Amino acid sequence: MGEREPMLKVGIIGATGYTGEELVKILAGHKKVKITVLQAVVEKEAPISEIFPHLSGKIDLVCKKPDLEEAKKRADVFFLSLPHTVSMAVAPTLLKAGKTVIDLSADYRLDADEYEKWYGTKHKDKANIKEAVYGLPELFKDKIEKAKLIANPGCYPTSVILGVAPLLEKDLIHSDYIICDSKSGITGAGRKPGWNLENPDIKDNFKAYKVNSHQHLPEMEQVLKCFCKKDVHVIFVPHLLPIERGILSTIYMRVKNELGYEEIIKVYKEKYENCPFVRVKSQGKFPQLKEVALTNFFDIGLAVDINRKVVVVVGAIDNLLKGAAGQAVQNMNIMYGFDETEGL
Ligand SMILES: NC(=O)c1ccc[n+]([C@@H]2O[C@H](COP(=O)([O-])OP(=O)(O)OC[C@H]3O[C@@H](n4cnc5c(N)ncnc54)[C@H](OP(=O)(O)O)[C@@H]3O)[C@@H](O)[C@H]2O)c1
Repeated sequence: MGEREPMLKVGIIGATGYTGEELVKILAGHKKVKITVLQAVVEKEAPISEIFPHLSGKIDLVCKKPDLEEAKKRADVFFLSLPHTVSMAVAPTLLKAGKTVIDLSADYRLDADEYEKWYGTKHKDKANIKEAVYGLPELFKDKIEKAKLIANPGCYPTSVILGVAPLLEKDLIHSDYIICDSKSGITGAGRKPGWNLENPDIKDNFKAYKVNSHQHLPEMEQVLKCFCKKDVHVIFVPHLLPIERGILSTIYMRVKNELGYEEIIKVYKEKYENCPFVRVKSQGKFPQLKEVALTNFFDIGLAVDINRKVVVVVGAIDNLLKGAAGQAVQNMNIMYGFDETEGL
């Protein structure tokens, strides 16, 4: 009998939040890893299967209060499902101990100046921002393979950047006029008391918020700039949908030449040819949230108005999976040479 391959030991810090819960669910069923650390700000330490009864029979590890010294003894890879500012207080200790860190917060996604401007707080770990790799596998796989610190992308940016980058890279659209009209379910804001579908601000309602002032705007512009080497201007209007999960972004871009549907769809098909989690829709078909919910897929469909030289791209994801936990596991799979789809 052959020797059993040792399992990679993984920890989740912030395990009781929305994205932490999704990570536990995915990693408990992952063939190559073993969850050895679960931590969160819990009143009482308890098995995770008591906190989330749907996990019972799958994992009964105790979710402990935050203790980094203990954590770093027990795992090799850490997922930080933490609020921004908390991650940058945790990551340096883990990195210094030689651990791999996949951070789901915004703490390592932006240049320090932009971070401080948009998040309104000083960055306390500037040195590691330079080490961080933006974890969007469809666009930065080569860098992800070698990374020790992943800045896992924001949910809105994932839905927008994957829809814009292929055309920008080929210099087919104007980079100074990209309109993104995005809609998100309520889990995008994290788990907080009273924030549910019965809340009168949410129930039977639909509204725009943080118009052109959402903190994900600079992330989109900074990452998209890598594809055209000049400033990119995005007009970003997020909306809150009265549903639990999912993001649908409708993106309007001005095309430089009189390109038709066939030429434009070809660009996307070629770009995402070897990407197991991108599904390019056929002509006349557009993504729906129901088709991506509970999956790690990014679905994309488009239409072209040749006379007005406008392309409309619609992209959809599950914000907790491709927009967060699923993408984080996809990144880990790439970093450790596992099948990119393992667990997903
Ligand atoms: N929700 C999304 O769709 C989404 C998508 C992409 C990225 N993100 C980002 O991912 C991160 C987590 O998001 P989320 O939606 O999962 O948030 P969440 O539901 O608010 O969960 C945050 C988690 O962090 C824990 N926590 C808070 N302070 C802590 C500390 N000092 N030490 C250890 N644990 C601490 C919380 O514990 P308690 O609950 O016990 O306080 C909870 O388990 C955020 O930075 C968010 O911006 C979220």
